[in-house]
Amino acid sequence: MSLGCKKVPFLNLPTPIEYLPNISRELGINLYMKRDDLTGLGMGGNKLRKLEYFLYDAQQHGADRLLTVGGAQTNHGRLTAAVAAKYGMKCSIVAADDYPGEVSANILLDRIMGAEVILKGKDPNRSEDEQIHETAMAVKERYESQGETVYYIPMGGSNELGVLGYYDCAQELTIQAAELGISDSRVITAVGSMGTYMGLFCGLKDIESPLSLSGVLIMPYEESVRAYAKTYFDKVKKQYALEFDADKSDFHIDEDYVYGDYNNPVMEVRQAIYNMARKEAILLDPCYTGKAFNGICQMVRDRKIQQGETIIMVHTGGQPGLNTPHHREEFERELMDGIKIL
Ligand SMILES: Cc1ncc(COP(=O)(O)O)c(C=O)c1O
Repeated sequence: MSLGCKKVPFLNLPTPIEYLPNISRELGINLYMKRDDLTGLGMGGNKLRKLEYFLYDAQQHGADRLLTVGGAQTNHGRLTAAVAAKYGMKCSIVAADDYPGEVSANILLDRIMGAEVILKGKDPNRSEDEQIHETAMAVKERYESQGETVYYIPMGGSNELGVLGYYDCAQELTIQAAELGISDSRVITAVGSMGTYMGLFCGLKDIESPLSLSGVLIMPYEESVRAYAKTYFDKVKKQYALEFDADKSDFHIDEDYVYGDYNNPVMEVRQAIYNMARKEAILLDPCYTGKAFNGICQMVRDRKIQQGETIIMVHTGGQPGLNTPHHREEFERELMDGIKIL
């Protein structure tokens, strides 16, 4: 099923689903991973599925430049830079953030791929969204006054168009799960700006997939996350005339493993990252997938995931974040003991 919008299909799909025997044994569940970190282009990640749709729309608008917003270390910005580079466009990434003190992690990759990164330190007395939007619009106006056509992609690509990337992925997952004989699984993904979760939610519902869905929230929301999900869902439903409804209680998004902030160093999350790397040789990131996997481990401990249950975690990418200065300092502190200097 498709919702009638066109995309530029640049991804090599389907991404694999892998069984993780060692972590499964340890947790007493059957854990699979949907490797959406292997989506190619610019080190991969979930945002590329959304960007297939944005790219088509940008090309229809005759865009010369892709403009997007996020935190200084936005993965979405990096992947927007990747798509712009590949398809002959310029790219600007705007963040309401201070300069992190060095050109590393995603900022380094943005610059290697030729994107411009505009950092505007935060005013603590004003809403962050408002500040980012204001700066982005100033950048848009500046380039447009120079004759460019600028295509704006909102934070995380999470609007009615971006949702289609994971709407499609829900169908891909349902087919793969059936082939693997695990159609009774629960899919679990990190929830940031929610496009990934909402796309999966709508896609699974629309085809009456036997797969269920939970999200692990990775950052605090200013309003109730379920209320936000309902508003987002209503917009998507209206845009595509979806034939099913959803209520706040239908959105299973666990808010217990946020640890207070967005992209903050958390010891439990680093432990989860070490465990996954040392048992399955899969690298997670400290902002999204590490928090999501830690959430899964805690959900097993808190009996929100039952022993023997089958889980498909979506690996949404983000590994360049391991090199973000404020995370790397913590890793260095914990890992120095294994470095022998002779
Ligand atoms: C690596 C990674 N995982 C998960 C997410 C969350 O996706 P969404 O913003 O669609 O909720 C993001 C968003 O930036 C991301 O970069």
